[in-house]
Parts: sequence; C-alpha cells; structure tokens
Amino acid sequence: MKTKEELSSEQAAYWNGPGGDGWLAAYERIQRSIGDIGDMGLAAAAPQRGEYAIDIGCGTGGTTAALAHGVGIGGHVLGVDISETLIEAARSHRLENASFVVGDAATHPFKAHAHDLVFSRFGVMFFADPVAAFRNIHRALKPTGRLVFIAWRTPQENPWGTVPARAAQPFLPPMPRPGPDDPGQFSFGDRARVERILGEAGFHRLRIEPIDRQIWMGASIADVLASAGRFGPLARAFAGAEPAAIDKAKQAIAEALAPHEGPDGVRLPGACWLVEANAS
Ligand SMILES: C[S@@+](CC[C@H](N)C(=O)[O-])C[C@H]1O[C@@H](n2cnc3c(N)ncnc32)[C@H](O)[C@@H]1O
Repeated sequence: MKTKEELSSEQAAYWNGPGGDGWLAAYERIQRSIGDIGDMGLAAAAPQRGEYAIDIGCGTGGTTAALAHGVGIGGHVLGVDISETLIEAARSHRLENASFVVGDAATHPFKAHAHDLVFSRFGVMFFADPVAAFRNIHRALKPTGRLVFIAWRTPQENPWGTVPARAAQPFLPPMPRPGPDDPGQFSFGDRARVERILGEAGFHRLRIEPIDRQIWMGASIADVLASAGRFGPLARAFAGAEPAAIDKAKQAIAEALAPHEGPDGVRLPGACWLVEANAS
C-alpha cells in the first residue's frame, strides 16, 4: 500500500506533467462537456458582492473568473492549484479582484477564518488525506462561511469515463485502479464517505444532491478519438503502448461509442454530487 506522501507526490507529478498539459490542451472541449454542471455549482455558491472566496483546484481559472465577477471589485477570489502549468494559464485572465497561487490546497497556509466561500469544480477529489485537507479548508472559512463543490459519483454511474477505458483496456498496459480511499477522479463517489470526510473536518449542515447529465464527449467518434489519450487514465496507458496497440484500442473505443453517437455529437451518461456545507 502506498503512503499518503507517495499518493500526494504522485498527484503533484501528474498535474504538473501529463495531467496539467492534457487538461490545458483539451480545455475548450472539457468546458463544453462540464460547463453546465459547473454553472449549477456556481449558482449554488451564489457569490455576493464584497465576499472573499477561494477556488480550490482552480485549473485554468474559468470558475475563478465567474466567482470574481460575482464578488465584484469590493471582494476577492484566490485560485489555488497544484499545477504550475494551469496556474500560468489562469493568470492570463488578468482579473482585477482575483489572484492565483501554485499550492497544495491540503496544506496551503490560507488566511484563517477570513473567507465567506470555498468553491471547487472537480478539484477536491485528489487529496491523499482528505480529512486533513478539508480541515485546512475549514480553517480558512469564517464561522459564517460556506463550502460548495462538484465531484463525480461512482465509476458505475459515469459511463462517459468507463466505457472508453474498458473498451481500450485489453490492448493497453494496465491502467491504475485506485483503492476506495485513494485520491482520484471518482474518489468522492460514495456519499457516506463524503459525509464522513466533511463531518470529521468540522463541516455542518451538509446538503448532497445528485446531478445527472449526458456528457458531451466530442462532435463525432472521429473527434473523440483525435483527443483520446490526451488526459485521464487513457493518457497514461497510451504513453506506455506501441502504436499498433493504440490503433487497436482506438478501434475498440470507436465500436463501444457507436451506440452513443447522435446528430449533436457523442454523449454518455454522467453523474455528480453537488455538495454544500457550512463552517458552523
Ligand atoms: C479535474 S481538474 C479541475 C480543474 C478546474 N477546477 C476546472 O473545473 O476546470 C482538477 C484540478 O485540481 C488540481 N489539484 C489536484 N490536487 C490538488 C491539490 N492537492 N491542491 C490544489 N489543486 C489540486 C489539479 O491540478 C487540477 O487543476
């Protein structure tokens, strides 16, 4: 079993390497896939004029910009991300009332009891020690502060993630299979686990609502295949495979996606939690 330090440095290496590069390269497509889910999170967060907010795992800063618009020039948003590549992209927004920092949200020394809102769109599932990380986040909030984040549910409820990977798997080197408590895309799938983590970290009045959506994967199967392997578990597996094996894997992905192709592109079911909690 890997130690928390090993898991944590694996995540940092991934998001400062292929994870960050892939996310940036595919961002336009990603935004089309998850933009509406993020908007539901932002609507629940309802940033108010003059508020102080943090965007955890802010990536390229799209949601930070939306929060900054909400809090206005009397407020401020801090975007924090472990990936230098993504923070560099986020800084290009040149927002008057937001700043960006490269840091691990689990340990970053946020100004204590100083923030009204902590928000995240898919940026909180990668902590090696989630209770410790959320304690750090909790400490950043004022007693009246609130937490709002979006996280994926289980792999079984997210065929957009599992169908291509399962089809490609027989032709590729083994893909990582994170344990139920390991960091990863689907690590917040178990509602009871999310409740336990947030409760132990000091949060109160949890509201956890499901969001179910068809996830747009690309304009056509050819379009999906053109970017397959740019990020996620497939990227790691493609990186270690021979070109002939990648061709076979792509052929298998195309066959698996065929039933999901329609006039407006390839769409598969996706499932998230919208999580809200209060600091006290
Ligand atoms: C799935 S991406 C989401 C990015 C962004 N929130 C968005 O929706 O476009 C996950 C992000 O979390 C960041 N991340 C992972 N672990 C982190 C940590 N411990 N502290 C801060 N950011 C982290 C990654 O670098 C990446 O940008």
